[in-house]
Amino acid sequence: MQESTLPLESTLVELEAHAKERIANAATPDDLEAVRVEALGRKGTLAQASKQMGKLAPEERARIGKLLNAAKETLETALETRKAEFDRQALAARLDAEWIDLTLPAPGPRPGSLHPITQVQMEIEDLFTSMGFAVLGGPEVETEYHNFDALNIPADHPARDMQDTFWLKDGNLLRTHTSPVQVRGMERLGPPLRMIAPGRVFRNEEVDASHEHTFYQLEGMMIDREVSVAHLIYFMKTLLSHIFGREVTVRLRPGYFPFVEPGFELDIQCLICGGAGCPVCKYGGWVELLPCGLVNPNVLRMSGIDPEEWNGFAFGLGLTRLAMMRYAIDDIRHLQGGDLRFLKQF
Ligand code: DAH
Repeated sequence: MQESTLPLESTLVELEAHAKERIANAATPDDLEAVRVEALGRKGTLAQASKQMGKLAPEERARIGKLLNAAKETLETALETRKAEFDRQALAARLDAEWIDLTLPAPGPRPGSLHPITQVQMEIEDLFTSMGFAVLGGPEVETEYHNFDALNIPADHPARDMQDTFWLKDGNLLRTHTSPVQVRGMERLGPPLRMIAPGRVFRNEEVDASHEHTFYQLEGMMIDREVSVAHLIYFMKTLLSHIFGREVTVRLRPGYFPFVEPGFELDIQCLICGGAGCPVCKYGGWVELLPCGLVNPNVLRMSGIDPEEWNGFAFGLGLTRLAMMRYAIDDIRHLQGGDLRFLKQF
């Protein structure tokens, strides 16, 4: 009996020492769990050792039993202590990662910026309101009457083909220009009238670097007594000098639009080469910019204004085109592309 007791006792001592060392050396909570299973698990080393107690004399069994329990307790405590250490480390790491320096100044709001078209539009609005013009809006879904007929473009007029129209099933359309807002202005406000109307317009076009199905125009109209081409030129020169920040030289060429008579194409002398000729003006020295004219008496009459008493001028500025010239944007598709890398530059 004596012979079998001593080896078991020393085995216990060894087991405990071995397990303690492994607990101390455990690098992760998983390692620790593996040690626990190996030493204290149901099939662990201590359980194996306790099985051998059956062979012992009763008094020896009691003594070794106590030793076994003591070893178990020691190891459980060591495991818990080590586990608490791991928990502390994990918490410290988490707090480190989440650390915020509350003494740093707050980042502050990050402001966006206005779209280049909006910027040009707002400048023109400011200029014209300072000259007594109202800024009007109109619907993007228009009636055929306002978009065409009331502008002296009846159903069989060839000018309708020039504006590739998105027709809607109900007979309305997406406005092809901002000119219908002239009609709405005349109908609602009557003469004398000074108005501009910036807005989005739509054409059923193939999209490429210089054509979009959606773009922006800015319409203008002034109706009063004895308005002349001289007034038109004055306002257009004022507008363009303001936008380009310097005097511009303009010229008028005849241009045909059913709603004006006479109608003009207003060109500006090329700002890049000063008229000598360069790629921007296609070596002509002039850039076509602004269709305009004196309001056709038919148009006045259709909106209830007596052409014997009143007359006026109108113009249709390509806002998109103007913004592209002003900011040297070479592809119209950037403007509606929604790419922040592009938009952040303005
Ligand atoms: N509405 C015309 C277009 O989109 C542009 C235009 C030409 C407007 C002459 C006018 C004007 O007011 O007088 O093509």
